[in-house]
Amino acid sequence: MAVRSGTKVSLDTILSNIHKEFHISTDHIRTIIKQFHVEMTKGLDHEGATLPMIPTYVTGRPSGKETGHYLALDLGGTNLRVCSFDLQGQGNYSVHQQKYVISDELKTGEMRDLCGFIADCVDNFISEHGSDHLQDALQLGFTFSFPVLQTDINRGTLMRWTKGFACSGAINKDVVVLLQDAFLRKNLNVNIAAIVNDTVGTLMAHSYLNPTTTMGVILGTGTNACYYEKRANIKKWKDTANTFDEMVVNMEWGAFDNERRVLPLTVYDNKLDRESINPRQQIFEKMISGMYLGEIVRNATLSLVDQSLLFDGQSSKDLNQQWGFETAYMTTILADTSSDLARVQHVLQDILQIPNTTLQDCTIVQRICFLVAQRAARLSAAGIAAVLSFTSNIDHACSVAIDGSVYEFLPGFEGHMKALLVELFGDAVHDRIQFALAKDGSGFGAAILAMVAHNDTQ
Ligand code: BGC
Repeated sequence: MAVRSGTKVSLDTILSNIHKEFHISTDHIRTIIKQFHVEMTKGLDHEGATLPMIPTYVTGRPSGKETGHYLALDLGGTNLRVCSFDLQGQGNYSVHQQKYVISDELKTGEMRDLCGFIADCVDNFISEHGSDHLQDALQLGFTFSFPVLQTDINRGTLMRWTKGFACSGAINKDVVVLLQDAFLRKNLNVNIAAIVNDTVGTLMAHSYLNPTTTMGVILGTGTNACYYEKRANIKKWKDTANTFDEMVVNMEWGAFDNERRVLPLTVYDNKLDRESINPRQQIFEKMISGMYLGEIVRNATLSLVDQSLLFDGQSSKDLNQQWGFETAYMTTILADTSSDLARVQHVLQDILQIPNTTLQDCTIVQRICFLVAQRAARLSAAGIAAVLSFTSNIDHACSVAIDGSVYEFLPGFEGHMKALLVELFGDAVHDRIQFALAKDGSGFGAAILAMVAHNDTQ
């Protein structure tokens, strides 16, 4: 590995400066949690608040006794997934599933085309996986992971797109009606029985296994959380005919602090936001989720290149490209514990085509990745702490179901989250609050909800 001489600023100074930019103190986290409580209260009180706190019409917990054949559709991240579940009761089920890639053209084209594509995938899936339920309509749970203002378990209008989607003809429209129409156009005998946010699907799937599950959290391409809220606290709920003790609330926490009151945004976050397709929106999500973390690292790296503190002041075409630093590279970089940081160098030289890197360059880039991931983990844990303290669950043994690539694959992520909870609430919280990986749970949760919703109409 090359050694370079003549850098005027010491490595320690460079590392300590990046640390200052990205570190969030425990006190600052407490301020963020207080603000969460303020915003949650507003969102439960009236429509139009920054945290929408959407009632999901999901009022019970799954019993594990559910049986039957149900389809689930999962749209909201990188892929579309179609699954069929055979629920056999006693918590047992079998599943077939297929993934389909959604092109950038579909993500930003017309909603009618996206729905047509989804209908084709469902058609293809049913033909391939067969079904002996041809007379009756197949019941489908639709996991649609965007902010949808629900008006029933199978009704809801899209408030805005997130995560790089921007189809025209969908905002303020009922997405269930749009997709059901596409099924009709293809003569598909499939009924959308429930529309489900991925956080809610994850919560349902995990509650099926563990009844102490209180929250569902996604830390993936995007981020969000849902939890059980008491009827009396959902002040904006006006339907007196509908009686229930608690309902799952989809927080849409990616929008937390869009006003920028408490989140310590750096110049790198601001640049990312300005250049994104949804500036001034999803600010919390942009500091946490997989769609954005690599881009924050790229911005911070380029700033050091511009000061001639990295790579001898030389960048590359790949590194200069917006979104050119994938969040997946962070996983490789953070997993490298070797003394020569060979895998970090591989990412920089072989993937990003930076001509010459020194051990010091690799150390600095690894530290940037570490700090960006640690900040994301602390903010995610702050959101969870805010909910668990708001609902008084922080003092009880409970489980938080979490899914998503950031949580699953970024080395150290869960450790940083747990460390923050301990800083805030003391050692005992470590074992009291369980974080459980609920891998691909949202499809299963959607199938359960399709069953519950369908049985309610019988
Ligand atoms: C969406 C949420 C979703 C989250 C995780 C966010 O961008 O607004 O509805 O739950 O991503 O997929």
